[in-house]
Amino acid sequence: MSVHTTAVVGAGTMGNGIAHVFALHGYDATLIDLDASLLDDAQSTIEGNLSRQVDNDVIAPEEKSAALDRLSFTPDTPEGVATADLVVEAVPEEEDVKAEVFGMLDQHAPAEAILASNTSSISITWIADQTARPDQVIGMHFFNPVPVMTLVEVVRGQRTSDATFNVVAGVAENLDKNPVEVEDYPGFVSNRVLMPMINEAVFCVMEGVAEPEDIDTVMELGMNHPMGPLTLADFIGLDVCLHILEVLHEKLGDDKYRPCPLLRRKVTAGQLGRKTGEGFFEYD
Ligand code: 3HC
Repeated sequence: MSVHTTAVVGAGTMGNGIAHVFALHGYDATLIDLDASLLDDAQSTIEGNLSRQVDNDVIAPEEKSAALDRLSFTPDTPEGVATADLVVEAVPEEEDVKAEVFGMLDQHAPAEAILASNTSSISITWIADQTARPDQVIGMHFFNPVPVMTLVEVVRGQRTSDATFNVVAGVAENLDKNPVEVEDYPGFVSNRVLMPMINEAVFCVMEGVAEPEDIDTVMELGMNHPMGPLTLADFIGLDVCLHILEVLHEKLGDDKYRPCPLLRRKVTAGQLGRKTGEGFFEYD
């Protein structure tokens, strides 16, 4: 099957970035969220990010207007997925929310449609089991900021078919991304490798090994990382980092993934990083 029409469920940072790249690369894209104010915010974020790409000569002004013409927004999930060939879910990382969304997608998306999840921490095999089409369910894990980052982890659940995998890997290539095939284990590759590094940086803060700025400088200058691990943790969200570490700890059963108590304390205090104005650093 070939993909022309897409739908993205969840208009947060990842969802609006995913809708942005679909529309920019020629796919009709409907962004769906029950919260109408989030949809309004997502629309202006996408317009702003497309303008930024025009200003930086990444895309031509006509590409921006063509992308905007391909986008639509709705709070109505059944209507939004009714003609979709590929649906990507990007709702909060809670199993009951995912189960409800995938139940709806299975009911209202066309029978041949592929249902993908942008989850970073929930099993694709488990998500697939919430539907009657587990062979057409797959992980499509994008990275923030989606218009800039060129990786998509394409995650095969236990029953994902080769046909589904090939279609989704092809779509990722059409988005000018690099699809990497990954099996369905906790954290996939990206977060299994990234989160222990972030956690260790937080332990370094807690144990007074160095100041947060200096820990980041070591990794930026010594390892050529674009952002130090603490800045990156603030960018991702400390609550998100904690949640992923908890999943790795519980599902892999190894204490090497235990979340640092300082990370937990910051989350408890509501210091979640950029989105709350304070994490390991302060933001305007
Ligand atoms: N849309 C479009 N363009 C954007 C953008 C967006 N949302 N955000 C940034 N850009 C563009 C900027 O316009 C700029 O373009 P230019 O080079 O053509 O001028 C370019 O990206 C670089 O941005 P900035 O100049 O603002 O800032 P930086 O040079 O510091 O780059 C960054 C910002 C791209 C975020 C870079 O710091 C970086 O790569 N950081 C690491 C990000 C990362 O690791 N992301 C993965 C997080 S993990 C994840 O998402 C998985 C989840 O499961 C946890």
